[in-house]
Amino acid sequence: MDSLVIEGGARLRGAIKVNGSKNAALPIMAGALLANGPTYLKEVPNLSDINHQITLLRELGCEVERQADGALKIEVTDEKNSHARYDLVRKMRASICTLGPLLAKRKFARISMPGGCAIGDRPVDIHLRGLEALGAVIDLDGGDIIARADKLVGAEIFLGGNFGSTVLGTANVMSAATLAQGTTVIESAACEPEVADLANYLNAMGAKISGAGTPRITIEGVKELTGANHTVIPDRIEAGTFMIAAAITNGEIQLPNTRLDHLLAAVDKLRSIGVIVERDNGGCTVASVRRLEAATITTQPHPGFPTDLQAQFMALLAIADGNSVITEKIFPDRFLHVAELARLGARLHKEASTVIIQGQKRMVGAPVMASDLRASAALVLAGLAAKGTTTVMRVYHIDRGYERIENRLNAIGAKIKRVNQEELEL
Ligand code: EPZ
Repeated sequence: MDSLVIEGGARLRGAIKVNGSKNAALPIMAGALLANGPTYLKEVPNLSDINHQITLLRELGCEVERQADGALKIEVTDEKNSHARYDLVRKMRASICTLGPLLAKRKFARISMPGGCAIGDRPVDIHLRGLEALGAVIDLDGGDIIARADKLVGAEIFLGGNFGSTVLGTANVMSAATLAQGTTVIESAACEPEVADLANYLNAMGAKISGAGTPRITIEGVKELTGANHTVIPDRIEAGTFMIAAAITNGEIQLPNTRLDHLLAAVDKLRSIGVIVERDNGGCTVASVRRLEAATITTQPHPGFPTDLQAQFMALLAIADGNSVITEKIFPDRFLHVAELARLGARLHKEASTVIIQGQKRMVGAPVMASDLRASAALVLAGLAAKGTTTVMRVYHIDRGYERIENRLNAIGAKIKRVNQEELEL
């Protein structure tokens, strides 16, 4: 098991390319199950979550290959097996987004029900409710969701839940509705850019989707979808993480291929505390030249402040001037990073799903434990700013969403070493 050993204090300077979006690529790859013919996807990052999805798609009868130009070719060659086993689904919850495409194309799907998650309770009841509204019959058996449908029929579906919209729930229902008879209208759909990117891919395959990226999506069912070529959008959460890396080290970095329009809530918060974020050449430059101010943040569905940047922002506000408040409205228990940041000297007071952050001048390096993807990114960012050495253990969490993060940050001035268990001296 690898760890990252970080020497803090270096100011980051230089340009860093943002990879394709993990959270756009996963449902798009599942969407290839709907197609007759090959799909070619560009900008699919090389991450452990992507590799899990590739393994799952192969089990579900797809040929999946990286092409010489790095594109991912996916083609269904055998529709016999429609069972996503527990052993795969437990490693990556996003496997659930194969449910809608399998049901629509093969009229049957057996998907292991995703289990517990470090960031909190994550039921899939809204996914199932949406697919039942299209006419699916859904049962649970031995921990598996079994979905059947002689045919899917378009319907008007309210997809909102207690915590607002659902991203993968919208992806599942929207994908399934592409091959349903008649028109489907999804109300309270998730507006995340990843949903709009999935709709662009499905439309390139011959689907008739309008309104994706807004709370109301309309899908005219079609008889068949063919393969398509698609380039996945840049990863807005990776971009946001790198922006915070520039801010927390008082550095200056260029992000040449970042879509600022996908990140306006986070950019607004960065600017409000004193970070300079300027558009340039299709991307942006992010710089910080002084101690930053405190802020109040509440996570919300897009276009509100993304929950996937909550932990990283907490690390930044831990060294801001003044008291900040963060309230987590999407995953109320998403705070495993709090105790670890406190080990680095952050002053954090958690009450239910709100954390008060008393800004300190500086954090001090220590060994810390990663617990989930974004928490581990926050610990790396804190380590970049902390005095001395920070060792982040269990970095397999970070490899799920950031490709070789130490190489890319070292290229702009960080001092990070990846070590394995044997080499680690604590
Ligand atoms: C997606 O998860 C992302 N994952 C998550 O990113 C992200 O945190 C989340 O959206 C919110 O933005 C991928 O895209 C692979 P939701 P998803 O369904 O779709 C509740 C990362 O770090 N809910 O939008 O699973 C749910 O419990 C990951 O990259 C129900 O109650 O999240 C949560 O409170 C972590 N019933 C809220 O809705 C349901 O059926 C939003 O969850 C579905 C969801």
